[in-house]
Amino acid sequence: MSKDKVTPYHFIKLKKEGKKIVMVTAYEYVQAKLADEAGVDGILVGDSLGMVVMGYKSTIPVTFQDVAHHLKAVVSASPRALVVADMPFLTYEVSREEAVRNAGKYIKLGADAVKVEGGVEIVDRVEAMVKAGIPVMGHVGLNPQRYLVLGMRVRGKTAEDGVRVYEDSKALEEAGVFSIVIEFTTSEVAAEVTKALKVPTICIGAGPYCDGQILVFHDLVGLNTSPPPFVKKYAEGYEVFKNALKSYADEVRTGSFPEERHYFRMHPDELSKLLDILSKKRSSSRSTP
Ligand code: KIV
Repeated sequence: MSKDKVTPYHFIKLKKEGKKIVMVTAYEYVQAKLADEAGVDGILVGDSLGMVVMGYKSTIPVTFQDVAHHLKAVVSASPRALVVADMPFLTYEVSREEAVRNAGKYIKLGADAVKVEGGVEIVDRVEAMVKAGIPVMGHVGLNPQRYLVLGMRVRGKTAEDGVRVYEDSKALEEAGVFSIVIEFTTSEVAAEVTKALKVPTICIGAGPYCDGQILVFHDLVGLNTSPPPFVKKYAEGYEVFKNALKSYADEVRTGSFPEERHYFRMHPDELSKLLDILSKKRSSSRSTP
């Protein structure tokens, strides 16, 4: 594996070569380091942080600043992987100017690209960002930022809805995106979209016929106690951390932590000097009225 920084062009090259693209979300330094050392191709600072980091019920309350804060922590790990900053709800919907300005701020903070949710209705903003020199990743199928209007249902269950996902994807490719996330969509629709596009598709809950896959860090390592149904858990992170914390609490309460190797001692000569000084201080304070 080459050690060169992954770029959007690299994603397109991987598709041409028929190699799968691996992405995961990360929200801070250690997660980014772990993902990069594991050899993933891309890291998404997802607005899913609203749920898995902040405990919100949806991604709607996530702000521009929230993603900026977590992006800085991910960039600190200097990952080889492509770093994609997710644009939160209402940071690109209102106007082309706002979309370019906000996306540009993430690029200035060290993101290699940004991601936006939506299809035909956002092509003008995608074009404006790409024209400004900002690599953009699309996101079709289920769009959690629009769940109040569209719901949280599986997309592409009917031919009519499948055509919508297909047309959204084609419109985004024409607007200049370098890849597209397809979320919670039937595998047949994801397969047709993948065949029709030159840019790679990255799937989450949309089957195996895509050019790559993405999972949320907390779901993958088992830190999310109520993950979505399409998730595969690769570790029991929640239990591992809870057991570590329980052992710590037990050892503090029973006095078995800290042990001698966890603390530092004075030289005996310095100790007797200290005790001497303290005893003098005590007797002088007793004698002062
Ligand atoms: O925010 C996120 O984690 C995402 C993924 C589900 C693709 O957008």
